[in-house]
Formats: sequence, C-alpha cells, structure tokens
Amino acid sequence: MSRLAGKVAIVTGAARGIGAAVAERFVLEGARVALLDKRAELCAAVADRLNAARSDSALALALDITDEAGWLRIVEEVGGPWGGVDILVNNAGIMRVQPLTECDGDTFRKVIETNLVGAYLGMRAVVPSMQARGGGSIINFSSAQGFEGRFGMPAYTASKFGIRFNEDHFNLVNGSQYEQGAITVPAGNPVFPTSRKVYIKELATLQVKGPATTVLSKEGRNIVAVARYGKGAVLAVGDPWLYNEYTDGRKLPAAYDNFKAAQDIVRWTISQTKKK
Ligand SMILES: NC(=O)c1ccc[n+]([C@@H]2O[C@H](COP(=O)([O-])OP(=O)(O)OC[C@H]3O[C@@H](n4cnc5c(N)ncnc54)[C@H](O)[C@@H]3O)[C@@H](O)[C@H]2O)c1
Repeated sequence: MSRLAGKVAIVTGAARGIGAAVAERFVLEGARVALLDKRAELCAAVADRLNAARSDSALALALDITDEAGWLRIVEEVGGPWGGVDILVNNAGIMRVQPLTECDGDTFRKVIETNLVGAYLGMRAVVPSMQARGGGSIINFSSAQGFEGRFGMPAYTASKFGIRFNEDHFNLVNGSQYEQGAITVPAGNPVFPTSRKVYIKELATLQVKGPATTVLSKEGRNIVAVARYGKGAVLAVGDPWLYNEYTDGRKLPAAYDNFKAAQDIVRWTISQTKKK
C-alpha cells in the first residue's frame, strides 16, 4: 500500500515501542520519516533498518522533545532535504507509577514537561511548515489515563461501587436565575440532615445501581449517590459545587443551604470512618 506516498512525517519516541512501529508502518506506506528520540543510537539502528528496506526513507535525529530550540533545528533538518513536514506524530512519552505521596515535584514536572509541553513544542514547531504546504496532520498520543483517573484500578473500583456518571449536563442556569439551580433536600435525608435547599448547577447526573443508593434527585434524575463497598465509602456528585462563592453567603440568596450542606458532608464522611 502507499497511502502516504510523497508525505514527510516526524515521529517522536521512535527508537522503540509504538513510535518505532509507527515509523516502520509509515515507511511501508510510502512516507519519508524523521525518527526523533533522545536515545540517539537506538533511533539510528531503527532508521538504518528502514533505509535498508527503502533507501532515503528514514532519518534518525537526536532530540529531547522538551528542547524548544532543538525543535526548530529539527524542522529545518527535515524540511531542508525533504521539502517540509506533512505529519507529526507526538508519540514520545514517559510514565511514572507513583502515588501522590511518593511522586515528588521534580518527577511530576518531568512527566508534564515531556508528555504535555514536549508535544506542544512539536506542534508549534511544525505548523508553519504544514501551513506552507497547504495542510498537515498532527497525531497526539494520549492514554486511557487521559479520560479516566487511575488510583490502582479506579474504573473497576467505580464499577464495584455501582456509580457511573452520565454524559449529560443537567440543571443549567441562565445568568443569575439561581432558582434554576435549586435542588430540594427532603426531610430526613441521610447525608444532608440540616440542609433544605441547595444550589448545584450544570452537573452530570448519575447512573446508580447496588450497592449504591441515591440520596438526592431532581425530576427523576440522580444528583447525589452514596455507596459502601469493602472498606470504602463514596459520595458522588457531578459538579464541584461547594465553591467559596456558593458557600460564603454573598452570591446566592439566603434560602440556599450550601454551607450547611458542606458541613453535612463533612459529618457524613466522618461517620463513615471506622473508630479504632
Ligand atoms: N505502551 C502502552 O501500553 C501505552 C498505553 C497508552 C498510551 N501509551 C502512550 O504511547 C506512547 C508510546 O508508548 P511506548 O509504550 O511505545 O513507550 P516506550 O517507553 O516504549 O517508548 C517511548 C520512547 O520515547 C522516548 N522518549 C521519552 N522521553 C523523551 C524525550 N523527552 N525526548 C525524546 N524522546 C523521548 C524514549 O526514549 C522511548 O524511545 C507514549 O506516549 C505512551 O504514553 C502507551
């Protein structure tokens, strides 16, 4: 196949893994590929293999993708002989599996600097060349962790708790028509015993099944749910609604009990912990 015949691509993190496989496939499809990686020797070995299969199809370039000036040099080094850049694959990335308390600032910064800033610098560097050629494609690698949190196995855990967020947007409020965001708390509510009316706007509603139970609803939609599973307890609500501005008594009309609701949640949370 030659779906990429005549195209020039840059693939980051191409010394091994997915990046090397992408580079190889692109060459098979007829593209010329600049393989970027901070591991220069490994990268050169992959490029040699590709050039042996098709001459002048691969170029190995050493780059740490967090090097902003280096990116500009790379675009010139690729664009000079090959005429420009049509495709950028931002594949290089690093992963550190460390819980919050073990991940220090330097590690956190390095991951952000590589996976986020590095990809940004690449896009910024190639776009002028793509514009000059009338268009191009940029492929940024994310991960399942880009759309679901991970603390051990949160998706699995969430499924066990029986609560899922719907992809909706409920309780919309127009300007300062606060009444549109009102949710009535029935008397005797197990989580909110002292609150009667709360303000939660623009939230995602919940799908609830055992062992979870709904503690607050409006018009038949689940707004707040709680669940206990194993040693854990969860309270879920689809909006971080206890902002200062909703609890400090200045913005919302006095009828709203958001501050009391916050106190209710604290008391409920404490009540879920086991006494030693
Ligand atoms: N492998 C998986 O299961 C998986 C799952 C989801 C997402 N991803 C994503 O796919 C991409 C590739 O994954 P992989 O498993 O092939 O990774 P890998 O660790 O095998 O290869 C990554 C390459 O990127 C290079 N690299 C790292 N930091 C760099 C930097 N600052 N500058 C230049 N090069 C750098 C490394 O030298 C390495 O050659 C990553 O972005 C990763 O987050 C991977």
